Amino acid sequence: MDYQNILIKQNDGVLVITINRPRNLNALNHSTIFELNHAFLDAEKNRNIKCLILTGTGKQSFIAGADIKEFSTFNQKKGLELSKNGHCILFDLLENLSKPSIAAINGYALGGGLELALSCSFRIASENSMMGMPEVTLGLIPGYGGTQRLPNIVGKGQALEMILTGKMISAKKAKEIGLVNHVTKKEELLFKAEQLALTIVKNSPSAISKAIQCVNVGVKNIEKGFQEEQKQFGKCFETEDFKEGISAFLEKRKPDFN
Ligand code: COA
Repeated sequence: MDYQNILIKQNDGVLVITINRPRNLNALNHSTIFELNHAFLDAEKNRNIKCLILTGTGKQSFIAGADIKEFSTFNQKKGLELSKNGHCILFDLLENLSKPSIAAINGYALGGGLELALSCSFRIASENSMMGMPEVTLGLIPGYGGTQRLPNIVGKGQALEMILTGKMISAKKAKEIGLVNHVTKKEELLFKAEQLALTIVKNSPSAISKAIQCVNVGVKNIEKGFQEEQKQFGKCFETEDFKEGISAFLEKRKPDFN
């Protein structure tokens, strides 16, 4: 597919997807959502891609939210469709990929932009970044999973403060509340994301996908999460990756999972 709104770069098993609508601070319009859906499905199928990094073009913005201009005339039915479709083709899809994803937040991550970052496996941010859920200032609520994923990640009180005030928080505060794992200088953000990705891609892809699945099941229902863990743990013993990992340990060499 010939992408108009995103840039794609693949290196050493790591796919960097850059949202590229700088004139609108990388706001998520319909075509961008469609292109991201396509890129994620492609990445899932491609054995050579082992980890994704998401970032935004420019120094000012990761993603400044869903494209407000696009839904300004919507009614209830279209609003419901927008949310439902977004959950299905983008946010749930990203969260449930068998491959990990890192949000490299390089500026504003607002509304749908922060929600996309919340669907990633984890988040890092440059020190200039500002994060928030400003929907209530527009008479809306977060509609791409933010009311559920944000409290899961930062706790109910911190999430409700962000959602109800609509105020942005700094990268420093985001790290304090566990919204992002690392804060870097602007120019070091992608390097840090790539370092983390390269560490991950050395590990067993089948174990990584099973771990993601167990965590995602457990976040929704802890009892089911425990059961899923037991099932997936058992399955690991039948994989080539397990044979390779154990052989490498016993032979005192590094495993090669490719
Ligand atoms: N949807 C559509 N366009 C957006 C956008 C969004 N979410 N966020 C920014 N833009 C556009 C602006 O309309 C402007 O385009 P224009 O010059 O054609 O009008 C351009 O991006 C630059 O934005 P601007 O507001 O001039 O930049 P700023 O530096 O003064 O402010 C923000 C930056 C992020 C604080 C401000 O753009 C903003 O509040 N955006 C909306 C955030 C939001 O509510 N997101 C949740 C949506 S549900």
